[in-house]
Amino acid sequence: MLCESKFVTDISYRDSHKYAGKGAEYEQYYQTQGWERFLWSREQEIILKILDKYFAGRDIHLLDFACGTGRITSLLENLVKTSTGVDVSGSMLAVARGKLERSEIIEADITAENVLKPRKFNLITAFRFFLNAEPHLRLTAIRALTELLTDDGYFIFNNHHNLGSPWIKLLEYFHQKRNPDGIFNVMSMNEMKNLVEMAGLEIVEIYPIGFFHPPKVPVSYRLNRAIDNVACRLKFLSGFSESPVAVCRRSKNQNGDVSVSRE
Ligand SMILES: C[S@@+](CC[C@H](N)C(=O)[O-])C[C@H]1O[C@@H](n2cnc3c(N)ncnc32)[C@H](O)[C@@H]1O
Repeated sequence: MLCESKFVTDISYRDSHKYAGKGAEYEQYYQTQGWERFLWSREQEIILKILDKYFAGRDIHLLDFACGTGRITSLLENLVKTSTGVDVSGSMLAVARGKLERSEIIEADITAENVLKPRKFNLITAFRFFLNAEPHLRLTAIRALTELLTDDGYFIFNNHHNLGSPWIKLLEYFHQKRNPDGIFNVMSMNEMKNLVEMAGLEIVEIYPIGFFHPPKVPVSYRLNRAIDNVACRLKFLSGFSESPVAVCRRSKNQNGDVSVSRE
């Protein structure tokens, strides 16, 4: 499993992907790792489902935050009216530039200076960022993004190490046994909810992804798809998924109800 970050006091996650060659390494990782390829195939389906459900008949103005090599941007750029990707890493963006055809790509840190203001976007995505960002970066990022979200817009993000997943708990246990001083980042569903609430957002729907990921046991793509197909329909299992995707909007509902999609 690619360990993308650690919460250490002197290094911020914002610097973790800046070294030469990181973009190519990340791209390669997605091509060779079975579990990540499986998650990506599910993420694509879910993101397209979310577009159908929340944006039917609407023009979409996309901001893909921490767009990296343009994985999410490339899925969406031809489905939206305007497409913008922002990231701090030149190395990651170099790969994105080679891949994206009609997206504006911006190298900037909007948590330090929100250069995108006063623009607004009705779809903001942030994948594989919040789990590994340190707490202060998580909060400044989500607040900066909320400032860029239209009143009727949606913010979609994922958590690829959900603490509710038994496999993530197991991996965390093995990691700590092997390396007691190391840090294995995990995030619970409650932390996801609290984070968005601190920015004045609320989660309206959670799409569970990834249920069967025993460490070091190769599981075929087909078996994983079959398990996900069944597990996603069983609402009580959703908290156990490894990499849930959350759909958020500006807060309206004070009772905190979250609907879980059964697809
Ligand atoms: C694991 S990559 C995810 C890339 C892409 N979203 C994806 O899902 O494939 C995390 C990205 O977050 C970026 N990042 C970290 N801090 C950032 C910040 N303050 N502003 C924008 N991007 C940031 C890193 O440069 C890196 O490209």
